[in-house]
Amino acid sequence: MKILVINGANLNMLGIREPELYGEKDYKSLVRYIKAYAKEKQVKVKCVQSNYEGKIVEIIQKAYKKYDGIIINAGAYSHTSVAILDALKAVNIPTVEVHLTDVNKREDFRKVDFVGLYAFKTISGKGFSGYSLAIDELKKC
Ligand code: DQA
Repeated sequence: MKILVINGANLNMLGIREPELYGEKDYKSLVRYIKAYAKEKQVKVKCVQSNYEGKIVEIIQKAYKKYDGIIINAGAYSHTSVAILDALKAVNIPTVEVHLTDVNKREDFRKVDFVGLYAFKTISGKGFSGYSLAIDELKKC
């Protein structure tokens, strides 16, 4: 099984950005965490990060017929991007959405979630372990 993990805007700033919300560990630690869990579960993962909406759209388009699952934390684009939603619909790959924080307990604007309209599951507020739970969900597909 091959899974593509996409992290979007500002996820490269983990460890620096609002540590009281997102924790003290950096993006590299997140990638290490995901890869270690994937190995344990005998899943192949590719982890990518971009701050650019159009780039994320292209990454999703290129995943067409190449991956069995997508895990995506689009960051703030989750709440704004119809383009990312449309790209996910286009490639039709089982998708789990992850948010490190519990977006439903934050500002109202974070309750709008375009990515969540496509993802068959959204895991919110579980920190890094949200990504391992997402792998478990995709393995059930
Ligand atoms: C986030 C939540 C978003 O609202 C925010 O814009 C992010 C990170 C999370 O992982 O909790 O950048 O997706």
